[in-house]
Amino acid sequence: MTNRRPVILCVDDEPLNLKLLNAILIHKGYDVKMAEDGLAALKVIDEQRIDLVLMDVMMPGMDGFEVCKEIKEDERYKNIPVIMITALTDTESRIRGIEAGSEDFISKPFDAAEVLARIKMLLKMKGLNDNLLFAYNCIGDLTSFGEQVMQDFDPGNFSYVSNIDRIVGKLIRQTALELDKPNIVIIHTVDEFSNWHWLKYDLIDGKVVKSSMAIDLNCDNCPHLKTREQIFSCANKDDMTEAGIDAFVSILGSRGIKVSNIIWYFGGNFCVFALNYGRPIKKYDTAILKNLVMQGLFLRSLSLQLSETENAFEYAIYALARASEANDEDTGNHIIRVGQFSAITAKILGMDESFVSAMRVQAPLHDVGKIHVHPDILKKKGKLTVEEFSAMKSHTFYGTKIIGEHSRLEIAKTIAVTHHERWDGSGYPAGLKGLEIPIEGRIISIADQYDALRSARSYKPAFDHTKTYQIITEGDGRTMPHHFDPDVLKAFIEAASQFEEVYERLKG
Ligand code: C2E
Ligand code: SIN
Ligand code: SIN
Ligand code: FE
Repeated sequence: MTNRRPVILCVDDEPLNLKLLNAILIHKGYDVKMAEDGLAALKVIDEQRIDLVLMDVMMPGMDGFEVCKEIKEDERYKNIPVIMITALTDTESRIRGIEAGSEDFISKPFDAAEVLARIKMLLKMKGLNDNLLFAYNCIGDLTSFGEQVMQDFDPGNFSYVSNIDRIVGKLIRQTALELDKPNIVIIHTVDEFSNWHWLKYDLIDGKVVKSSMAIDLNCDNCPHLKTREQIFSCANKDDMTEAGIDAFVSILGSRGIKVSNIIWYFGGNFCVFALNYGRPIKKYDTAILKNLVMQGLFLRSLSLQLSETENAFEYAIYALARASEANDEDTGNHIIRVGQFSAITAKILGMDESFVSAMRVQAPLHDVGKIHVHPDILKKKGKLTVEEFSAMKSHTFYGTKIIGEHSRLEIAKTIAVTHHERWDGSGYPAGLKGLEIPIEGRIISIADQYDALRSARSYKPAFDHTKTYQIITEGDGRTMPHHFDPDVLKAFIEAASQFEEVYERLKG
């Protein structure tokens, strides 16, 4: 419950009675609303938050029983306690009152002390009830979020931090009215790429806004760091020093963040700070935050496992690509560089992040089919004969055969079979033209040739960046600009200095 004054609605057709009730209640610090008939009462309940209703039974129009029944049948209002005030003392009308769902009866003429005692008791019960219901709803929300994460789970496309955003969204205040929730949540965590984040989520103009912060957490301002103990704690304004969070709170103060109360979880890799609940912190707030922490820790461990699996996947791809070079001359980091060039180009072309990263990882398999080409051809010092070149061309088909069918390797497969196609249709193996060539193939065509030109082969010397750039953009007879997708060529021209930088960094 919040600290605001409870609002009591008095319903009576007799203005004198209303005046009397008003005087008693105002005196005790309640906020009083009045209605002279049933319809007016229902309207008040629709329009504002009411904590309890005192209801006369005998009224013209709808009687008190009917009004009470309407309230109790409405999902939104059924938890508002209703006390019937009645001159009727017979059993039958009591039963009607119970059937209508009222919580209590007071007989007329009433005793002020009794009215106040009953109101106090019912409000207390309602408060406890509201708290439980709120905690139950929050935990239910968080739990169904957990289920949602499992349902939407896509290992190829999982982001730890964006899932953290989603769970914080369940915890934080979304409208100014949700005083049961914190208005700021701060997360300190390390993601699957070993990057540390300080994330601040803030309710600004009715919207949750996320921003990064930099806070230097050290043993002086956070004693828990010394022992690296996991700790879960909370503090209202008066006990922050005792709880050992005062230094951290004053750091926040120096950033303009005022803290009236705080619940925090302190773990080695995941910390949460929930600030400024709109009322004093209660036990069940920590229960809710614990649930969030559990999910955060689970997501972190999931993301670590995923990134390990991803690393193993990349490692296996490189191992396969290297194996296929066994019979070839030493092309060094060729496969890694071609992956980088392809990713750079895809990014400039505006491809989405998962495609860019798939290009980087899978492009190294473009020549995997060369394992089926005779070493004498691969290592030949001079120009290939027509027969030899035709044997060489088959590396494209063999590549697709080796890669086979797997959804995670579709890009690699497409690349293997299309990396020697040309925009003007003069390439191999299929002689595809223009947009018939998948974008993966159009991208890697330049990436592969840039690297082959820069490197020494048994049949050619290494060319420098300037000469290579010239061959690709102006042509040398064997390679011509119209072999390339004009958009990809444009991206290459834009990225040429990045190509050079990658080549220099990864040469050898
Ligand atoms: P690679 O050596 O990795 O070369 C890949 C592609 O880079 C070539 O595809 C070609 O488009 C381009 N490229 C390589 N060197 C030059 C060059 O000196 N000038 C120009 N303009 N472009 C160059 P391509 O032609 O389809 O060849 C595919 C693969 O066949 C080559 O892969 C290489 O393994 C082999 N190959 C091609 N020509 C010869 C050759 O004359 N002798 C030998 N031993 N192998 C060759
Ligand atoms: C950091 O802030 O980068 C590290 C904090 C920690 O060691 O928990
Ligand atoms: C993508 O998969 O992101 C883009 C593929 C295309 O443009 O052909
Ligand atoms: Fe090739």
